[in-house]
Amino acid sequence: MGRISSLLNPATYLILNLGIVLILYFGAFSVNIGTITQGELIALINYATQIILALLALSQLIIAITRAQSSSIRINEVFEIAPSMKNGEGVAIKDDGVKIEFKNVSFSYSDTAEEALSGISFSINKNETIGIIGGTGSGKSTLVNLICRFYDANSGEILIDGVDIKKFSFSQLREKISLVPQKASVFSGTIRENVKFGKDYVSDEEILKALEIAQLAEFVDSKEEGLDFMVLQGGKNLSGGQRQRLTIARALVGNPEIIILDDASSALDYQTDAKLRKALKELKDKTIIIVSQRCATVKNADKILVLDDGKLVGAGRHEELLKNCAEYQEIAKLQLGEGVLGNA
Ligand SMILES: Nc1ncnc2c1ncn2[C@@H]1O[C@H](COP(=O)(O)OP(=O)(O)O)[C@@H](O)[C@H]1O
Ligand SMILES: [Mg+2]
Repeated sequence: MGRISSLLNPATYLILNLGIVLILYFGAFSVNIGTITQGELIALINYATQIILALLALSQLIIAITRAQSSSIRINEVFEIAPSMKNGEGVAIKDDGVKIEFKNVSFSYSDTAEEALSGISFSINKNETIGIIGGTGSGKSTLVNLICRFYDANSGEILIDGVDIKKFSFSQLREKISLVPQKASVFSGTIRENVKFGKDYVSDEEILKALEIAQLAEFVDSKEEGLDFMVLQGGKNLSGGQRQRLTIARALVGNPEIIILDDASSALDYQTDAKLRKALKELKDKTIIIVSQRCATVKNADKILVLDDGKLVGAGRHEELLKNCAEYQEIAKLQLGEGVLGNA
């Protein structure tokens, strides 16, 4: 369409000018034998030009209308899609000690794709710190996305506080669970706005505390503007690690019960990563899930889940896994050195 409409303008002007040439050529004979005057010939040329220019405007209008029509059809198609996720009616929460429970959960992104998670069962107790480890594509992010109910499982049940996750309303879930996604996204605006992220009730004091835990307080202190320091679009004036820590601080405000870090310390150096984990450990009444590819990051968790190709191949503490989980042994051996196996 672009090619044809780009031809339209030059083609119309070509026809217009050829028309003028023809009128002048034949008009000249008529003027010569005296049937029309020179003035009438010029008037004729003016009329012809006006008519063709009007036709040109009309053709532009027709293009615009056709475009608008096909766009509106597409927009309406999008409007007509009903979300497959149904909002739950909201529930009163009971407290039975188990925070999150997966019962034989399987999930695939579409009917045709192979299962990204198959037959996953585990439970996480209240206020535990859980590590999830596994290679890329093993389904770690998929698993945490299911906890946040970004997708519904194909089969099996996910319970939070003993209640089926589908019964919670979305706002209830979002309040309960904070997710730091794998890809840190920050916006142009102040640090304060980036941390608040729409939670207007959050005080400056709470923001500073969250920044402290996320190991970003030093950076903010070093800026004259403090919390008013402007972050550029996409966080261009921050380093990768600073961006990640900013999104971690965002997840900490608003007092969530469950905090999920999806590979959120991948751009941090080991030292900052360790400090961050230590600060997280000191938080009271939080269930924390740390997803990582690094053994050192999940080593001290109360329980480590080992994922491989969508399957749960091991669950337990670091020392236990070193003894009885071949996949974990493999990862530990590569990252911590052969020695770890001998010590365990
Ligand atoms: N949005 C998506 N649509 C379709 N397939 C996906 C999507 N996200 C992830 N997958 C697939 O699911 C599997 C697990 O991916 P993911 O959970 O992101 O792994 P990890 O976080 O462990 O690296 C991969 O095979 C990946 O190709
Ligand atoms: Mg991931």
